Amino acid sequence: MLPSYYEFYNPVKIISGSKALDNIPYELELLNAKRPLVVTDKGVENAGLMKVFLDSFKNSGIEIGGIYSDVPPDSSNSVVKAIAKIYREKECDSIIAVGGGSPIDTAKGVNILVTENSNDLMEFEGADRLKKPLKPFIVVPTTAGTGSEATLVAVIYNEEKNVKMEFISGYLLPNLAVIDPRMTETMPPKITAATGMDALTHAVEAFTCLQKNPISDAYAFSAIKIISHNILNAVKNGKDQKARLNMANAATMAGIAFSNSMVGAVHALGHSAGAVAKVPHGVAMSVFLPHGLEYNLEKIKDSLGELLLALSGPEIFAATPKEKRALKFIEDLRRLQKQLFDEASLPMTLKDAGVTEDMLGTIATKAINDGALMMNPEEMSHEDAMKVLKKAF
Ligand SMILES: NC(=O)c1ccc[n+]([C@@H]2O[C@H](COP(=O)([O-])OP(=O)(O)OC[C@H]3O[C@@H](n4cnc5c(N)ncnc54)[C@H](O)[C@@H]3O)[C@@H](O)[C@H]2O)c1
Ligand SMILES: [Fe+2]
Repeated sequence: MLPSYYEFYNPVKIISGSKALDNIPYELELLNAKRPLVVTDKGVENAGLMKVFLDSFKNSGIEIGGIYSDVPPDSSNSVVKAIAKIYREKECDSIIAVGGGSPIDTAKGVNILVTENSNDLMEFEGADRLKKPLKPFIVVPTTAGTGSEATLVAVIYNEEKNVKMEFISGYLLPNLAVIDPRMTETMPPKITAATGMDALTHAVEAFTCLQKNPISDAYAFSAIKIISHNILNAVKNGKDQKARLNMANAATMAGIAFSNSMVGAVHALGHSAGAVAKVPHGVAMSVFLPHGLEYNLEKIKDSLGELLLALSGPEIFAATPKEKRALKFIEDLRRLQKQLFDEASLPMTLKDAGVTEDMLGTIATKAINDGALMMNPEEMSHEDAMKVLKKAF
């Protein structure tokens, strides 16, 4: 059913394919940029990906202004400030993020500071606080997960308050996302599985949350179909370039979907488990997804039932009576979860992900105050959150 009102916005140019990286110098020229600052992390560098990336600039006439390769997981405002200082000192005119969600979101934060000529990220926390376009910004994702290359969100850790700050603005959408399968083929199986489950969660929550709309639905549905066909291949055989390219495209599509329709309780719980117990984002998504769907089941029966076609294919969809399709979706999701546990040791419970029972109360308190709950189909009280957490434990 069409919502009575909705908005959809995604101006990110996407270039995808083997050797897509080689087009970056030309794309920088189109953006009138000549001296990019590159933001990445040690894992990406140690996997040899910076060499592949830098090779694409050979004989291009573009001079890299600087490379910052120390972004930690769950990057914080002090890291963002330190990188902004380098950007200014090296007189850069644009930013290229090469990495997963951590370097990408860090680079988004840096772009806010250097454009606004500020040193205090907190001034811009929240929705629509930015009033002008940012510096030219290119993203080369190296995980197939967050979709941050195509979202208007940045999540950055606030060390003083021990919370993740959210920045939401159309100006945070990158100018260009470069999807090159060479950049994800070095991901180890467990990170492939976890980040892939993050992408799947984006698509499923986008399709079932209160702000769903027909355009984001189209992206979400296709993303689920592609992930379901490719995630196990990408985990089992990292060098399978077809599976890698498919997963990376699906993650971007899922990002476009949730950037326009939002996510829900699974993300609220996952952000909180991340803040309290440092559970990696994708691992938390995989653990919480079936429980979050069960919690919302009465409100999302129809939309989740439709998604059985994307997850499990036409034969299973046709063989399952309409009223049983949502439950069948959750059953098949659990089967996938188990396969990812067998193939890549992806945790299936909070306990296995390093959460202890005494943390559940704090996680519940944080979750019910998380912005992601706003578009969740069901209300969630502290008691409700505790029930879900205990099941997931
Ligand atoms: N802005 C958004 O829209 C959005 C959405 C969801 C999550 N996030 C944020 O993204 C972050 C998580 O990002 P992530 O899941 O992509 O993980 P990540 O960027 O933290 O990377 C995880 C690990 O994988 C390594 N790695 C990345 N690519 C690799 C490759 N190709 N080969 C080998 N190793 C590689 C990294 O070095 C790192 O150690 C969280 O902070 C989360 O809050 C943002
Ligand atoms: Fe996510």
